[in-house]
Amino acid sequence: MTHTAESAPAVDHPSFGPMAPDRIIIFDTTLRDGEQSPGFSMNLEEKLRMAEALAELGADVLEAGFPIASPGDFESVHAIAEAIRGPVICGLSRAAPGDILRAAEAIRPAARGRIHTFISTSPLHMKYKLRMEPGAVLEAVTASVSLARNHTADVEWSAEDGSRSEHDFLCRCVEAAIAAGATTINIPDTVGYALPAELAALFTMLRTRVPGAEKVIFSTHNHNDLGLAVANTMAAIAAGVRQVECTINGIGERAGNAALEEIVMAVRTRHDAVPYENRVATQNILRTSRLLSTITGFDVQPNKAIVGRNAFAHESGIHQDGFLKNAATYEIMTPESVGWSRSNLVMGKHSGRAAFRDKLRALGYDDVGENRLNDAFRRFKDLADRKKVVYDEDIIALVDDEVLRDHERIRFVSLEVWAGSKAKPRAVIEVEVDGARHAAEAHGDGPVDATFNAIHQVFAHEASLRLFSVGAITEGTDAQARVTVRLEENGKMVDGQGADTDTIVAAARAYIHALNKLLVKRARTEPAALSA
Ligand code: KIV
Ligand code: ZN
Repeated sequence: MTHTAESAPAVDHPSFGPMAPDRIIIFDTTLRDGEQSPGFSMNLEEKLRMAEALAELGADVLEAGFPIASPGDFESVHAIAEAIRGPVICGLSRAAPGDILRAAEAIRPAARGRIHTFISTSPLHMKYKLRMEPGAVLEAVTASVSLARNHTADVEWSAEDGSRSEHDFLCRCVEAAIAAGATTINIPDTVGYALPAELAALFTMLRTRVPGAEKVIFSTHNHNDLGLAVANTMAAIAAGVRQVECTINGIGERAGNAALEEIVMAVRTRHDAVPYENRVATQNILRTSRLLSTITGFDVQPNKAIVGRNAFAHESGIHQDGFLKNAATYEIMTPESVGWSRSNLVMGKHSGRAAFRDKLRALGYDDVGENRLNDAFRRFKDLADRKKVVYDEDIIALVDDEVLRDHERIRFVSLEVWAGSKAKPRAVIEVEVDGARHAAEAHGDGPVDATFNAIHQVFAHEASLRLFSVGAITEGTDAQARVTVRLEENGKMVDGQGADTDTIVAAARAYIHALNKLLVKRARTEPAALSA
């Protein structure tokens, strides 16, 4: 497949202006398609933090949510549209007037806003999901895009299950969407079924046959059910597509979406064969990926391309030998280019505040305020006392942890635990609730159980524990543990995270984090928030 910048026309786009033919728009849907997959839900503060990070990364469009889906979804799209400058802020809607009006209201505060409206076009979806005749679907395309255009000049139209749609009908739908004013045409491979050559041929067919195709940006949105999402995205680019829809770490429905970091690094590393430009600051990739893992509690697998722990590790003797003679023998891109530090070993207990601030800047945290810096430095000193080597990953986890805890009502202060094979485990915990200090002591079936019972005494609640998982942030027996705790209360589910060299302290932090999230949820549904 040959890539030439000329294969796409220079489009004058309402949000991006005259676009060079070699420009690729990075459309990030971590906060919509990614967030809607099981276990990945985020609260408002987390979505805002993630949106900030995606803006710093250089994503062109942020699909911030599906405003009609719930009041929480509406609120987060609206808050992101208010707070985030740089990317276009996009809200998703079905082809129904109520959906479109809600999306329009949610994106209103954005400097540049987009409505993304979709309807299924495959025979299977039209017959069984929509129960609509093709003619009615075609009318809905025109009506939905026209209505969206009354509210914003930047309108994306998607043909859900587009890759399994009949070509003639798909052409008529795309033509209707363009005629009604859509400026981006997205053809999703909704179920991850397409093969790269097929998808490329589909885009070539649409770009050749549909009247007006030269006036719009074509977009690709690929799911990873057969592990082909990134390959399909690259094939679509070769066929003239200039917007790629993707998520950090490839999260998303079922097997996920195409991973942003993999697409961006494929384009950068193989610029000789894929000569396109985008605005992503690749050195922020790892940091953004880690932030998502901290927020959701899901680490990527060690062999995950670009951001996995082993992505730049050389284990075999032959590889190490070649690598030491010339890194290019086994390394196609540098770890630094995506945010890994070559000498990962950073600071120790003698490092001062100025060095710590410098380190944070080097890791991309330019905007850490004085209070947060002081808290993070105190925790760093504490960590350096307990851990022989402090890695960049440790510092990133620690700062992200502080950021996530910024607005918490319940704050961890200290924990002492007595456990072993003889006596019944006992825990004494100290926490601050709305600034007032409280302490409690409890026994339990194990040290974690004793700790959670103590938290229960100091802050009574009805939530039940649904998941408890432990992972290590770095290697070695002194590595920080990252614990995820899932709590459920009245059908509401929240995940909390905590990191510490002591697994029980990490568990206490995670439990308290989850409780704070429940408080936020309760405050939204019951305005008089509950007290301790
Ligand atoms: O996968 C899909 O078809 C989607 C659309 C809503 C764009 O996510
Ligand atoms: Zn999707």
